[in-house]
Amino acid sequence: PAIATVIPAAGVGKRMKADKPKQYLPLCGLTVLEQTLHRLKQVPALQQFFLALSPDDPYFPELSVAADPQIQRVEGGAERANSVLNALLQIDAKAYPWVLVHDAARPVVRVSDIELLIDSCIEAGQGGILATPVRDTMKRASDTAEQTVEHTVDRTGLWHAYTPQLFPTALLRDALQQALAQAVAITDEASAMEWAGLPVLLVQGHADNIKITQAEDLALAAFYLEHSV
Ligand code: CTP
Ligand code: MG
Repeated sequence: PAIATVIPAAGVGKRMKADKPKQYLPLCGLTVLEQTLHRLKQVPALQQFFLALSPDDPYFPELSVAADPQIQRVEGGAERANSVLNALLQIDAKAYPWVLVHDAARPVVRVSDIELLIDSCIEAGQGGILATPVRDTMKRASDTAEQTVEHTVDRTGLWHAYTPQLFPTALLRDALQQALAQAVAITDEASAMEWAGLPVLLVQGHADNIKITQAEDLALAAFYLEHSV
């Protein structure tokens, strides 16, 4: 079945504290966004890309990928979930029964992990996400200001959720639309599906699929980019 790809890239990168949004910072000779697109484009099942950009984004038109006929620009929204919903509303769910959503800020995702997610979800007939089991001991703080430990959280069954996340297009669109209309806090696609009572598969990927968030992440991403495929 045909899969549309949504790339939310309309953030400002507040935590990065750089002079431009992090998706436009240099990484191994290209921008972060171009590296992300390069990985996604190595997956033959992905042919049509819906890129959510800030309406006054001056950077994207300067990139060589701006002329790529497989990339369609859509207007981003106030929060990541609004950017994703705007893109979903542009997608014909009959032509593309599945949609894969991937953060522009995750340029190191492995092609083999994307393919594992697609194969696992389509075989199961269920949406799912790349994730890894939590490795560190987890603490619950008693008080966010004081930062003393209240207790150790049982780590059993705790996972880190990454992107890409793959779902049936119409189900995700409706779940996201309804959750946002009811002001439910939505941090990823899976949380909208969970809220709607729909299943989400956990597909174990690799922990090098980092989201570039703070300045120190760029050096790590550059290392991973050159040492993984
Ligand atoms: N994103 C988006 N629309 C928004 C906010 C975020 O499309 N209104 C995108 C970002 O561009 C990024 C992805 O969602 O590719 C993940 O978001 P995050 O890492 O939080 O990026 P920013 O919001 O840009 O960073 P920060 O939260 O530090 O400001
Ligand atoms: Mg953000």
